[in-house]
Amino acid sequence: MITATAVTAALGTLRQLSDEFGTSYPDDTSVDNRYRPRLARRGVEEGGNVDWTTSFYPGMLWLAGQLEPEGDWWTLARAHVPSFVRRIDGHIDVETHDLGFLYTLSLVPAWVHDADPEARRAAVAAADHLLTRVLPAAGIIQAWGDLDNPVERGRAIIDSLMNMPLLYWASATTGDDKYRAAAHRHAAQLRDNIIRDDDTTFHTFYWDPTTGEPLRGDTAQGAADDSTWARGQAWGIYGFMLNFLHTGDETFLASAERCATRFISLLPEDKVPYWDMIFTAADGQERDSSAGAIAVCGLLDLAAATGKSEYREEAMAILDALAATCAGSGEDTTLLPHSVYNKNHDAGVDEGSMWGDYFYLEALLRRENAGWTSYWMARA
Ligand code: GLY
Repeated sequence: MITATAVTAALGTLRQLSDEFGTSYPDDTSVDNRYRPRLARRGVEEGGNVDWTTSFYPGMLWLAGQLEPEGDWWTLARAHVPSFVRRIDGHIDVETHDLGFLYTLSLVPAWVHDADPEARRAAVAAADHLLTRVLPAAGIIQAWGDLDNPVERGRAIIDSLMNMPLLYWASATTGDDKYRAAAHRHAAQLRDNIIRDDDTTFHTFYWDPTTGEPLRGDTAQGAADDSTWARGQAWGIYGFMLNFLHTGDETFLASAERCATRFISLLPEDKVPYWDMIFTAADGQERDSSAGAIAVCGLLDLAAATGKSEYREEAMAILDALAATCAGSGEDTTLLPHSVYNKNHDAGVDEGSMWGDYFYLEALLRRENAGWTSYWMARA
């Protein structure tokens, strides 16, 4: 059991990161295990709040304050609230389904811990904006691009399951069922189409936006259309679990279990997944530690929901392997090196990632506090 040391090391690294970045934003992934300022893009200055991964940094600060209540972590976490409020109010880079990732970890905690009304208002505004991406005939929330983009029209991705908690929370906090209904329908479409018969998953899937007919699956970040992108399979475990926990719909629990058993069966002996699960040691491919960390969080919820201790044991084995063989050290400002963002684009390969760091810290916190309620499960 190496958790206490792992937590101390992770918080030490997060301290270095937060000393360096304050209220500005590190890039999606590190370079040689140190983060650089977020590159300027889409009209947003260097270090600004743009793209889908900025909330993982304040998300980690909120987690750190729970691991170390005597620390000053939440002072800095709160200092990020205005940036996320400005982003949604100013409609800055919000044409994406990733509003769930962005607002569940930045503003929802400020409502949960501080009852900050401005945080709640802006997080509900983000949920409202997410609903503008619903394609009514298909019952899905389009992932990427403008709704009339010919390439992206009708496409949803497995990662989106993690964006649904913002909608469940919005229904709980406002009393308006429309958010929950949209999330439930979207998750049901993924349940029915994105999981293959052998319990592996497509990364992305297309529906006809006019008729709603399911069309075909393919990949964006995996090795092949019919392969199993490791992070996608992990999003499936945790994402279907969260949709089950919010709705009580047992079919989502069954989907999470299918994704989990397949993920476990495709893990290499040392428990750290290759970035695509078609690979084995013989292929010489990189690992995706972030997929491991996401899976740990989902497996712990799955173990609690099913009472099956083997899922907890598997989660602990993966977490131990991450702590022992992947965790950052020394001058690193990433908590969890060795993830892969997008091998197909040679982006963030064998580096730390904002999301990998976040889910690693969440996994450590969960291990320390068995009954802990995650921000993904905020209900009011
Ligand atoms: N949600 C994007 C990714 O997992 O890379």
